[in-house]
Amino acid sequence: MPAFPSEFADLLTPRGLRILKGRDAEACGALLQVPPRRFLSLTDVIQVKKAVACRAALEAALQDSLVEMEDPIPPESILGMTENYAELLPKTVRVRTALLESRRSRSWRAAEQVGLTTMLRSESFAAFAAAVSGRALRRKWGIQVLCYGPGDYSGPHNDHHPEDLEARDGYVDMHITLATPAVAHQWLVYAQGGHFSQMVPVNTVGGVTVYRLPFWHYTTPLMARPGQAEAARRWVLLGTFLDAPRAPARAKTLGRP
Ligand SMILES: [Fe+2]
Repeated sequence: MPAFPSEFADLLTPRGLRILKGRDAEACGALLQVPPRRFLSLTDVIQVKKAVACRAALEAALQDSLVEMEDPIPPESILGMTENYAELLPKTVRVRTALLESRRSRSWRAAEQVGLTTMLRSESFAAFAAAVSGRALRRKWGIQVLCYGPGDYSGPHNDHHPEDLEARDGYVDMHITLATPAVAHQWLVYAQGGHFSQMVPVNTVGGVTVYRLPFWHYTTPLMARPGQAEAARRWVLLGTFLDAPRAPARAKTLGRP
């Protein structure tokens, strides 16, 4: 039997289910608040026991097929400088990822076997993102799996996509974190009021974070507990949702003139 339930709803605690049904005043529509709120971290919405079982399935099935994603600091960012204080840092990152775009990849087959792809494509997964973001979201969304090991991080970036018509006015990301007990800490730092002034721990088992992008943020290097580097991993299950078109299509009213 697959480790992941076919519906995301089956992982949820009573509070998680309340959010899913739009009945939690604090979390529902949180990313529509004024003044703007770009980010929400929820730590009591997924049942820990089920999260632990899902993490075990990822550890067993996906670890061997991960691919390194690495964009280091370009040496020219220092060597090419000609003016004091004119440094510019492009997005830097080091993390491993499971390639789920290609059905022929080993990762895709492994993710299918444990039920991961089915759950990430489930109605309740998207409905949860819609409930927290307070927006209608598109029926099709992107899915991804990341795995941070010791020293893995992502540098400051904003995830803005000005060249994509459908994303340039903003979009929603939802992440589920499944960290192993060997992780000492990892943090998400984000900008508010023009400064990197906010910081939340992302070393959780079943924590859910929801983002209204773009905004500036970075993820600090994952630190392992002493002597436990081998076992320190933070799995991130990720959905990327575009806003539903503003004028709803009439195609649904079938048979009408
Ligand atoms: Fe990001």
